[in-house]
Amino acid sequence: MSDKMNRRAFLGMTAAGAAGVVLGELMGKANNFLPTEKASASTLNETLDFYGAHQTGVVTPAQNSANVAAFDVTTNDVKELRELMKKWTEMAATLMAGKPLAVEPQDGAFPPTDTGEQIGLDTGKLTITFAIGASLFEKDGVDRFGLRSRKPAGLTEMPIFHKDSLEDQLTHGDIVVQACSDDPLVCFHAIRNLSKAARGVAHLRWQQTGQLGVKAEGTKRNLFGFKDGTANPALQDETFMKNNVWIDAGDGASWLAGGTYMVVRRIHMRIETWDQQSYSSQENIIGRQKVSGAPMDGKAEFDTPQFAADAAGKVTPLDSHIRLSNPRTGENSERERILRRGYNFMENLDSVGRINAGLLFVCFNRNIQTQFESIQKRLTNPNLPDKMLSYTDTTGGGYFAVLPGVTSKGSYLGQALFE
Ligand code: HEM
Repeated sequence: MSDKMNRRAFLGMTAAGAAGVVLGELMGKANNFLPTEKASASTLNETLDFYGAHQTGVVTPAQNSANVAAFDVTTNDVKELRELMKKWTEMAATLMAGKPLAVEPQDGAFPPTDTGEQIGLDTGKLTITFAIGASLFEKDGVDRFGLRSRKPAGLTEMPIFHKDSLEDQLTHGDIVVQACSDDPLVCFHAIRNLSKAARGVAHLRWQQTGQLGVKAEGTKRNLFGFKDGTANPALQDETFMKNNVWIDAGDGASWLAGGTYMVVRRIHMRIETWDQQSYSSQENIIGRQKVSGAPMDGKAEFDTPQFAADAAGKVTPLDSHIRLSNPRTGENSERERILRRGYNFMENLDSVGRINAGLLFVCFNRNIQTQFESIQKRLTNPNLPDKMLSYTDTTGGGYFAVLPGVTSKGSYLGQALFE
């Protein structure tokens, strides 16, 4: 790419980004950290502000679609990596503001800076969230970018849990980008253009899309047909987010303050086998009633299950998903709680003709070991495994550190790590 092109592309992006910020201010900035209106046609063109102490896409109410993409960094030059983060920062702010990445008409002599498939579409509350994997700090024993000493102790490669079937081409990655919007094409456009801009510095390793379905309000369902997200913390619960989601400067790596850890698990669901299970055994496997989402011993979705009164697991089986994932044993259970933000995926048939569908499980937590892993180890304990494990295969994902938010224009993603 020529200098002329670089300058032109950059100026185009900067102008568009600035316009987006001004527009955001005029309209009264949407607050990223509180639930906004539920998805409906009238809110499709709502935009969220990229700038803030935390990145968007964590406590932002889940949009209908997601596209999570992992990148491998191909350069060995930390300066190129830093330039990419700067470029991606500008681009993400521009895209989230619903602006094109280049001024139209674009220069006829060069490939388009903005691929254009989103022109005229609503932004659908697009959020773009950036996170980095342990391999960015060290890969095969090599301190690739001089960052090894800054790696947070808790950021490891995702281990292989009991019954996992991780496939290399669907797992790990140096950087992960989560794009969420009410429109899947807007998510795709974001990932595509970020990938295009990374050429020569980073390339896509894997990509996974997901959908939640359109529903004005209330808990959406996963592909087992159960409400998913009922026991999630309220997004407005700032005390919970402070205690269980956002990383504090005192947690170990001070450059990561305001970030969080993201766990991604691509969980294939054996739909055909599940669909042969009786209605009541499906409820016993999850530990909730199918239509209402109420606990087995309750009437309404948000009733609290009384496990203590059912020590033998006669009402809610001991190996049911909710009983194992949250045994509700006081303070420990509270400290362990995570923020789940998963999406259903539905793809073509696999090589043996099964529906290739499942859950793109995403959760955010402040400490992977004492939160996600602690829960996951119970679910995969060979002595009393989650009954649901017989109907799922985890084929990919990874552990990532979500970078702190970018608080002002001119700053960039990961700045505190690189400088
Ligand atoms: C295909 C895989 C999975 C499916 C279909 C699934 C489904 C569900 C459903 C239906 C619920 C009950 C409703 C709710 O509170 O959201 C639930 C709850 C929960 N799940 Fe999962 N889940 C899956 C994987 C996981 C994984 C990998 C973890 C974490 C390690 C996890 C952690 C939890 C937690 C913590 C709860 C809340 C339990 C409570 O507090 O009552 N789930 N899940």
